[in-house]
Amino acid sequence: MKALLHIDASAQQFGGNHAPKALENIPRHTSISKAVAASFVRHWSLQRPQDKIIYRDIGFNPPCLISQTWITAAFTPEEQRSENQRSLLALSDTLINELDRADIILISSPMYNYGMPAALKAWFDQVIRINKTFTFDLARGDHPLEPIMSGKILVLITSAGEFGFAKGGIREKMNHLGPHVRTLSHYLGVEQVCEINAEFQEFGDERHRDSVRQALSESKTLALKLAGNQ
Ligand SMILES: Cc1cc2nc3c(=O)[nH]c(=O)nc-3n(C[C@H](O)[C@H](O)[C@H](O)COP(=O)(O)O)c2cc1C
Repeated sequence: MKALLHIDASAQQFGGNHAPKALENIPRHTSISKAVAASFVRHWSLQRPQDKIIYRDIGFNPPCLISQTWITAAFTPEEQRSENQRSLLALSDTLINELDRADIILISSPMYNYGMPAALKAWFDQVIRINKTFTFDLARGDHPLEPIMSGKILVLITSAGEFGFAKGGIREKMNHLGPHVRTLSHYLGVEQVCEINAEFQEFGDERHRDSVRQALSESKTLALKLAGNQ
């Protein structure tokens, strides 16, 4: 049995498991990234019903921001932590435990202000933690950080209002979402990244409908391919 950790980051809702309907109703905007991620999970589960799906809607229920006391607690050796420090790190412990159990990480995210939503950044800040997900050793010279976990696959599904964010696109340099998530994924123990992008939401035209159709189709193909390789 494998485990799939599914993180949805859009603040928009996804009204159920009817992705094609969401496609018909594009002007009444519901989360596209959540719809495409739901399609991935549906096809994955059809292939691998025995697998565990761990789900978090961090757009709806964002993790708290880290604070000075949180950082002090994280850098205090475990055996010296006070009760208060332990409880400050409880959410981080839970999120890291979910990550640790996952073979596949599915992150769906909108593009907000050319990057990731604050809720997703808050999740990364809670999860990428010293001696839990990475070690730090100056003996390693200019690259002192190393991930602790390994062998994970990341499926990143994004949706943007504009377009041209992929390699060679007219807004490639403005894309701080995919590249940022890819950089951080190294510290989650990710060794393979697969990305699906829907674009053009703000235009609401045929290009958008095509882009969403394409993303839904890619989500099915990718789910079947990855599920078959497990
Ligand atoms: C607060 C906010 C900021 C946004 N910033 C951008 C942006 O910088 N670039 C862009 O292409 N689209 C931007 N959009 C449009 C969203 O990326 C687009 O609506 C996308 O479909 C949202 O994903 P979702 O449908 O999964 O919620 C923004 C939307 C919101 C609500």
